[in-house]
Amino acid sequence: MADQHQKPPKTPAYSDINLNDWRNYGHILTDSLWLFPARAKTGGHQLEYHGNYIPQIATQLFTRYTKANEIVLDMFLGAGTSALEAVNLGRRCVGVELKPELVTHVHGRIPESARADIRLITGDSAAPETVSQVKETLSTMGSEAAHFLMLHPPYADIIKFSDLPNDLSNAPSVEAFLDAFEQVARNGFELLAPGRFAAVIIGDKYANGELQPLGFWCMERMMRVGFKTKAIIVKDIQGNEKGKGRTTNLWRYRALAGGYYIFKHEYILLMFKPARRAKR
Ligand SMILES: C[S@@+](CC[C@H](N)C(=O)[O-])C[C@H]1O[C@@H](n2cnc3c(N)ncnc32)[C@H](O)[C@@H]1O
Repeated sequence: MADQHQKPPKTPAYSDINLNDWRNYGHILTDSLWLFPARAKTGGHQLEYHGNYIPQIATQLFTRYTKANEIVLDMFLGAGTSALEAVNLGRRCVGVELKPELVTHVHGRIPESARADIRLITGDSAAPETVSQVKETLSTMGSEAAHFLMLHPPYADIIKFSDLPNDLSNAPSVEAFLDAFEQVARNGFELLAPGRFAAVIIGDKYANGELQPLGFWCMERMMRVGFKTKAIIVKDIQGNEKGKGRTTNLWRYRALAGGYYIFKHEYILLMFKPARRAKR
């Protein structure tokens, strides 16, 4: 009987998943509802920063949408979940973060042996000079463009990350937040290789008794700059909670009294930059 492992691997253009062995990828999610009972704590990850995403998101997306050694660009690096998971998965990473102390912190968490593959930039991801800096960095890594774009912005003003005026969490209104996010998305579009994927991790918020659908509004801004939508993934947010249980009853009372629902999900919006059309 012919051994299927002897067949040359059949992979998508953007990942190392061998489609000849597709039954062996049970750990790769293909459903649009992601339920993670707990945050992964191995591979150097810790819940140390209010607002970091759970590493399993990076594991899923980088495995599915990048090949080994390719470059993930994260334009809201925070405490560096993307950078650490890039190291764990044998990918490279360029991370941009506004707060210099976070950049120093992430740098210290990257193993010495991986430092050449993980490049960290302190800067405003909405600014044109950041685009030039990322391009220069990519060029020193031997690449013209990034292979995957990760965008995990502040969820408007839900968590205030700093006092810096160009911090998206300090935008004076939701409209101003969306305009700044759109500028980051535009920069990311320019820096991403055609035919490649981008993910936006975002949740909604309530204000003045009304739900503000930040997720859908950010998706619309991504589409304005040229991205197309591939999937809307709904992920439960249990794994993000700190001090679980302490305030549950209070929130439940408020929900019952105010007629609203307590957020238990956020979105992972999977978008792509269309491949270049051949010139006629
Ligand atoms: C939701 S957190 C990202 C957390 C990150 N994904 C992690 O797992 O640690 C958003 C980050 O965006 C940063 N930020 C806000 N405005 C920015 C801007 N204009 N340019 C770059 N980073 C910005 C904040 O300082 C914050 O660290």
